[in-house]
Amino acid sequence: MTISPPEPSATPGYFRSNGLAIRRRAERDGGALLELFNEERFQHFGTAMERFASVEDLQVWLDSLGEAKFEIVGDVDGKAVGYGRLQPFSDRQSHSGRIFLGVCEAFRRRRIGSALLQCLLATADILAGLQRIQLTVFSDNDVAIQLYRRFGFEVEGRHRRFLRRGAEFVDAFTMARICPRTGRPYGAFKRC
Ligand SMILES: CC(C)(COP(=O)(O)OP(=O)(O)OC[C@H]1O[C@@H](n2cnc3c(N)ncnc32)[C@H](O)[C@@H]1OP(=O)(O)O)[C@@H](O)C(=O)NCCC(=O)NCCS
Repeated sequence: MTISPPEPSATPGYFRSNGLAIRRRAERDGGALLELFNEERFQHFGTAMERFASVEDLQVWLDSLGEAKFEIVGDVDGKAVGYGRLQPFSDRQSHSGRIFLGVCEAFRRRRIGSALLQCLLATADILAGLQRIQLTVFSDNDVAIQLYRRFGFEVEGRHRRFLRRGAEFVDAFTMARICPRTGRPYGAFKRC
């Protein structure tokens, strides 16, 4: 049996499938990501941050997360409609990292979240050689919890009264996925 390799993309760094391109986040994505981060449902289910006032504010916050991070966007017709981030930890936690994910309301349920997650996990497993990937998700975010479970994440614990929404408190789960050692040296990610 002959297996044909996928068509090479015209633009380096892109993975394309069915009109969706997965690529590294670029400076020009600022406006689109500001829209995503400030959306009503993203604010409700996806983040503990307040809305960002400007692209610059969002950039300052992203910069504050440090340099050792891998950020991708889901691109449809040149616009970033989804965002994913992998942040490896350092020192004696350099075998592990955390991820974050979000897709614009208008583009949900098209498997963009799944594609972003798959790319982050492949990077964590193959490139960075991470053994443990963790995340925090609000306990009422059933869609995200289901998505993470499908990719092998398990709930490890509950943070009670994790978030305030007006007068209400919401719990959060810590979820993690353990994968076997791949042979890459820990910390190799930083040089990629
Ligand atoms: C979670 C999120 C990233 C999923 O993105 P998405 O592109 O819609 O995900 P997919 O299309 O790949 O769908 C993933 C699964 O969720 C299901 N799903 C998606 N939206 C759904 C909805 N509104 N109701 C029920 N199921 C839904 C899909 O059917 C799919 O399940 P399946 O594979 O069993 O069919 C997106 O809903 C989101 O951005 N939410 C707000 C931010 C957030 O919660 N981020 C996670 C922070 S930890």
